[in-house]
Amino acid sequence: MSSYEEIRPRELKPAVLELDGISRTSVEAHYKLYQGYVNKRNEILGRLGSADLGAANQVYSDIRALKVELSFAVGGIKNHEVYFEHLGGSGGDPNGAVAELIKRDFGSAQAWRDDLKATGMGGRGWAWTAYDWDEGRLFNYIGDAQNSYPIWNATPLVALDVYEHAYFLDYQTDRGAYIDAFFGNLDWAVVNDWVSKYQIPLR
Ligand SMILES: [Fe+2]
Repeated sequence: MSSYEEIRPRELKPAVLELDGISRTSVEAHYKLYQGYVNKRNEILGRLGSADLGAANQVYSDIRALKVELSFAVGGIKNHEVYFEHLGGSGGDPNGAVAELIKRDFGSAQAWRDDLKATGMGGRGWAWTAYDWDEGRLFNYIGDAQNSYPIWNATPLVALDVYEHAYFLDYQTDRGAYIDAFFGNLDWAVVNDWVSKYQIPLR
């Protein structure tokens, strides 16, 4: 069995508690859900240490149950770490390197925004703008849950949480208004740091 280290939740940046149109109460409750994913990831990895490998079975077994739910917990961690990290900015059109990528792959900032919003309206949990290293381009991917539907070898640069817990308190069922507020709080400097850190080519 592989070894593991316990991880701790990343701290929330103070600016994320002061968003425009997404309340502090909502963000604080949302952050607690994220902490829950971290705790469950640690718990599941701990339990995997004593799971019976010889009893593995695709219908039901400890290995199966723990690993399926591990993918949910780890997805919840990764998704929310992108989400919280790139909020707290002043939104608007992208700038810098990510603006070039968006213009190249979507035509314009507005076309990118329209496509991501539609993807978010069509998803049951997430919409991501990710760079696919095999295709060499950005695409807006759809997600229904924390662990669906990741694309191998793609790096998320924008993560739009459309689970109801992200907006119901502030917008009830008006998800579209929440998505507009999300765009208004994006921190493009953070996204550009990722483009640079991951060395996404601009060619
Ligand atoms: Fe969430």
